[in-house]
Amino acid sequence: MRCGNNMNPIILVVGARPNFMKIAPIQKELDSRGIPNILLHTGQHYDDNMSKVFFDDLKMKKPDIYLGIGSGSHATQTAKVMVEFEQVCLEYNPSMVVVVGDVNSTLACSLVSAKLNIKCAHVEAGLRSFDREMPEEINRIVTDSICEILLTPSDDGDENLLSEGVDQSKIHMVGNVMIDSLLSNLDVAKNLDVLSRYEISKDYVLVTLHRPSNVDDKSVFTDIISAIEEISGDVEFVFPMHPRTKKMAENFGLYSRIESIPGMKITPPAGYLDFISLMSKSKLVLTDSGGLQEETTALGIPCLTIRENTERPVTITQGTNQLVGTDKDKIISAGLEALQGNGKSGIIPKYWDGKTSSRIVDVLLQSIEQ
Ligand code: UD1
Repeated sequence: MRCGNNMNPIILVVGARPNFMKIAPIQKELDSRGIPNILLHTGQHYDDNMSKVFFDDLKMKKPDIYLGIGSGSHATQTAKVMVEFEQVCLEYNPSMVVVVGDVNSTLACSLVSAKLNIKCAHVEAGLRSFDREMPEEINRIVTDSICEILLTPSDDGDENLLSEGVDQSKIHMVGNVMIDSLLSNLDVAKNLDVLSRYEISKDYVLVTLHRPSNVDDKSVFTDIISAIEEISGDVEFVFPMHPRTKKMAENFGLYSRIESIPGMKITPPAGYLDFISLMSKSKLVLTDSGGLQEETTALGIPCLTIRENTERPVTITQGTNQLVGTDKDKIISAGLEALQGNGKSGIIPKYWDGKTSSRIVDVLLQSIEQ
């Protein structure tokens, strides 16, 4: 499908680390069809290793607009993005705004668009953890309730939206766009020398933790670390540490304890290509991330999710993911089981095929032409 080049641009919003690999394939698809677009980075994540390295690895153009919002409380961060983004919308009068995921920038930009009567499309719509203590759950519910185009990654997303009374005509099951980035970068990533650079000499577990519910609570954080201590011995661990996690580990006096776990390698946050390379070669992933639950399912790598719930149930019903919660004994027994080669196997969910960005752009253009 083609659209006239005299159309107003589509604004693509990114803000935090998990947004970049979702927008990259959409922007490439728009560019390949000659559709004018503007890449706007709110600056919610600003460290080079949380942001710039992703632009380099994903071969994304530099953002056209950078808001430089930075860190702050939820209200501060959301409000600052809203104030700045409103000015951008007034200046550029976009034909549409595209937001992805569930971070504060997603919420802020969808709210501004809705109030200005600009069509807003939400990529990764319909996911629900049913846990309103999770800030992302509030962001998901509000964003979905005000966006006109809801692009879901899996059938459960459609079911959640329908049960909330959303009109079927707004919902489009397009699949998982993050898998487009994963599949198109996997061959290059697999050929990287990560094992030697990270000095890995045997089977290893890739660990990531950053959820406030896990790392901002000393006893929960300590239990998770104790569980990792218990499964250590015959394996190594690679732990690219999120800035929040590092800060809290230092505050709680846990950092040196983590460092001294046998086989543990704490590293700064990894770039995209290094990270998917590390993931694809790992024996097991231990995480509280949303995206990793999906990427491990796509790669067939067993994943233990250290959370009580997930907004991505298809990774459990069809994929390689297991919810182990924060119970130390459960993490230990599932961890040991997986390390003995009895990790969960799975299948690839529908439309996690690397072609989601093309389906997304078809829907966006249909909607703009209406
Ligand atoms: C945010 C998202 C979360 C996502 C995660 C991925 C929200 C509500 N949360 O959480 O959904 O899974 O990103 O990383 O939007 N910091 C830095 N450098 C940076 C960014 C952050 O040092 O580039 C530090 C700051 O001290 C900041 C803390 O990390 O206070 C947390 O950052 P913030 O953006 O508030 O939330 P995340 O935990 O990263």
